[in-house]
Amino acid sequence: MSVAWYRHLNETVGAVLLDSQAIRARVGELGAQIAHDYQGKNLHLVAILKGACIFFSDLIRSIDLGLTTDFIAVGSYGESTLSTGEVRLLKDLDESIEGRDVLLVEDILDTGLTLHYLLQNLESRSPRSLKVVALLNKPSRRKITVPVDYVGFEVPDRFVIGYGLDYDQRYRNLPDIRVLQLGGGST
Ligand code: IMP
Ligand code: MG
Repeated sequence: MSVAWYRHLNETVGAVLLDSQAIRARVGELGAQIAHDYQGKNLHLVAILKGACIFFSDLIRSIDLGLTTDFIAVGSYGESTLSTGEVRLLKDLDESIEGRDVLLVEDILDTGLTLHYLLQNLESRSPRSLKVVALLNKPSRRKITVPVDYVGFEVPDRFVIGYGLDYDQRYRNLPDIRVLQLGGGST
C-alpha cells in the first residue's frame, strides 16, 4: 500500500515495525489462547475505541467460543503523541457487565493511565472477572503499573501508526504497523 497520501503534512511514515502477516499470526495465537482460557465462561469483550477497533474485529473472529461484545470510548486532553494523564469517558458501555467475564481490548499500553482509569471504573461495576488484552506494549513509558493479561507485541519507545492506531485520526487504515516521524524529512 502506498503511504504517500499525506505528503503535504510535516509527518513521515517510517519503517514497518510489524507487518500484516506477523500481526495476523499473533492475533490468531492470542485468540486461541483466549478461547482456551475462557472455556465455560461468560466471555464479554469490550473494545476501547477507536484505536482497538481493527485489532478487536480480527481478534473476535479468531476466538472459537460464544462471546458478546461492547464498546467504550475514552479520550485524554492534550497533544496527540503525549498522554496528559487526564482521562475522560466519551462513550460508556451499552450493557451492564455485572457477573460477566470481561476482557478489555486495547490497542497499545503506553503510560498506563488510560487502562488504570478504565480498570478502576469497570471494577466498580462488579464483573465476575476483568482482564486486559493489549496488542502492543510500550513498557518504557509506563507511569503507573497496570495488570495486562495478554500482550501481542512489545514495542520500543517510538510513536507507531497503522492497524487502527492513529496520529490525529490519520493512518488507522494502514495494514502494517509503522513508525511515525514528526518534523518531515525524506522517506
Ligand atoms: P496510555 O494512557 O498512555 O497508556 O495511552 C494509551 C493510548 O494512547 C492508546 O490507547 C493510544 O490511543 C494512545 N497511544 C499511545 N502510544 C501510541 C502510539 O505509539 N501510537 C498511537 N497511539 C498511541
Ligand atoms: Mg489514539
